[in-house]
Amino acid sequence: MRIIIITGKGGVGKTSIAAATAVKAAQFAHKTLVMSTDSAHSLGDSFDLQLGSEPVEISDNLFGLEVDTRKELSRYWSNIQAFIRKTVQARGIDSVLAEELSVLPGMEELFSLLLLKEYYQTKAYDLVIVDCAPTASTIRQLSFPEVGSWYLQKIFPIQRAVVGMARPFAEKIYEVNLPDEGVFDNIRNLILSLEGMKEILVNPAITTVRFVLNLEKMVIKEIQRANMYMNLFGYNVDGVFVNKIFSEALTDPYLDRWKKIQSDNMLLVESSFSPIPIFKAPLFEQEVVGIELLEKLGEVIYDEKDPANVFNHTPPIQLHMEGQNCILKWRLPNLKKSEIDLFTKGDELILQTPLYQRNLPLPRALLGKTLKEAHQNGEHLIITFT
Ligand SMILES: Nc1ncnc2c1ncn2[C@@H]1O[C@H](COP(=O)(O)OP(=O)(O)OP(=O)(O)O)[C@@H](O)[C@H]1O
Ligand SMILES: [Mg+2]
Repeated sequence: MRIIIITGKGGVGKTSIAAATAVKAAQFAHKTLVMSTDSAHSLGDSFDLQLGSEPVEISDNLFGLEVDTRKELSRYWSNIQAFIRKTVQARGIDSVLAEELSVLPGMEELFSLLLLKEYYQTKAYDLVIVDCAPTASTIRQLSFPEVGSWYLQKIFPIQRAVVGMARPFAEKIYEVNLPDEGVFDNIRNLILSLEGMKEILVNPAITTVRFVLNLEKMVIKEIQRANMYMNLFGYNVDGVFVNKIFSEALTDPYLDRWKKIQSDNMLLVESSFSPIPIFKAPLFEQEVVGIELLEKLGEVIYDEKDPANVFNHTPPIQLHMEGQNCILKWRLPNLKKSEIDLFTKGDELILQTPLYQRNLPLPRALLGKTLKEAHQNGEHLIITFT
């Protein structure tokens, strides 16, 4: 089974492009499920259909669902939630707020990922397309299998043992509620379910991430950073969709300035994400709603290409430690080392060539480090920070 995760800033067209990708894939005879994990669902609206938490057949080979995040949450989290609620309330916090605090940020999205794994295991579909929440929560969501499972495996067993030993006196002396077995059972189930999740998500032949953006500087900046994080977590980013491009046929002078801004920003997109393929979609004359318009959108985006293909095979950015040094491996085909200037400015690494400039947002681990040396190795620029 193939998994395609579609994300981007709010309102750029993620849902429309996820739906259009699904329509196109179904035409290639892939049995396709498109699922929305954004708790503010609009996938059904996009198809102009009522979708629910179970797959609904939309057309030949095409199924859709909107994850019921509350239901998924209570499957894994109800005991923990009750525990947090009780603890918080005992400190005099009112019940509405206690309810709010009992769900940690990112939890709902995490549980949708577990549902994705279940679909993967049942092999009921050839392709699952995930219409995600805006970028920030997706980054959190997709980093959890790595960060969270580490925490749960390394720290959780210790905590459980400590709580077990401390319970008899701690509850009396400190008047605190300690988590009970139900809470630990929830956590253990979560660990078991997370097992194997990362292997599916970072297998570049199974899962790929595609970004949707519009030609606005702030939107592009956000995706540059998201792209760096996805690379860092080991995800294979295999497409950038540039949506809502003004057509050349538009001649209204009011739009001239906007068209110039868009064409300048298109150069920024091309230089920022190469060698990841870029797919383009014009601004339609109307909202993209209903299967016919989605089919049209799929057609302009993918042309003859099968959306289930993996469009990029090598991660553009990799990072690892070597002793005290941090090595950044940046894939830059067609780069002539003799022509480049490389330096850091604020939290970005800047690469200047006679033709273009690329800004790479640096991960936290590299902030405050000194750029020591850079050399070329085949298609890669190998940069050492110390
Ligand atoms: N190429 C396009 N031409 C015209 N309208 C478009 C295009 N792409 C998307 N739209 C419209 O823009 C609006 C927002 O699109 P969509 O819901 O797909 O964005 P989103 O990124 O999923 O938003 P959210 O962050 O709220 O989930 C919708 O009304 C949609 O029909
Ligand atoms: Mg959406």
